[in-house]
Amino acid sequence: MRVIVLPTADDVSRRAAEVILGCVQKKSKAVLGLATGSTPLGTYRELIIAYCAGKISFREVTTFNLDEYVGLGPDHPQSYRSFMREHLFSKADFDETKCHVPDGLASDYEDYCESYEQEIRDSGGIDLQLLGIGTDGHIAFNEPGSSLASRVRLKALTKETRADNSRFFATGDEVPHLAVTMGVGTILEARRILLLATGANKANAVRAFIEGPVTAQVTASSLQLHPHVTVLLDEPAAEWLQRRDYYNEIEQIQLRVEQRQPVA
Ligand code: PGA
Repeated sequence: MRVIVLPTADDVSRRAAEVILGCVQKKSKAVLGLATGSTPLGTYRELIIAYCAGKISFREVTTFNLDEYVGLGPDHPQSYRSFMREHLFSKADFDETKCHVPDGLASDYEDYCESYEQEIRDSGGIDLQLLGIGTDGHIAFNEPGSSLASRVRLKALTKETRADNSRFFATGDEVPHLAVTMGVGTILEARRILLLATGANKANAVRAFIEGPVTAQVTASSLQLHPHVTVLLDEPAAEWLQRRDYYNEIEQIQLRVEQRQPVA
């Protein structure tokens, strides 16, 4: 796991956008796994800036979002489809027929979840998966106790997640209880994973998933089993890490390797 601590949340957004842009520049038909929430908003802004400056096109990109609330249709203002449209898809040249967000109104979820998995497989698999992390250590809506082999399925949200997400709704009661979400096993099949965490309220989850044991109680800890994960943190989110100095040391060596400079 490559752990990079940057001074501010804006630095995290800029670096995350560079990684995504690099992926699309290398492969115009890249398949991106995308996330909602407050954390990736700055990254999406940077992608839009790059598009408006004529530096990138997303026309051929395929995207798969991690999750969607059950019961909210695509035009509901709090649905994740609306979020993605508002904050990214409509502001650049994405072909929305290639932008997949799980359906919050499916009539047969067993069939539907299997078809979402199949669409990911048919696209050739996810090249780069963007992730945030919940204060309870979840990735997507894989709440504590989720199987680390789980696939796309329905998941009941914890009280903590519903309270965290209530800021987007008029009242806490309106936050849906269920979501359709990629499973941990689905996420771990992405070729590369980029997890972002900013703010002091994530410091506990960050320490647990990077330096704690692999456990279904902190589903982000499953990323320790993936060979190509980059974690971008701002200072407050990194505050409780015990091996920060060592991560910085590794990063300096990694940068020298990438720039083909002597490492010893
Ligand atoms: P946030 O959500 O980016 O709004 O903090 C992250 C998550 O719950 O995965």
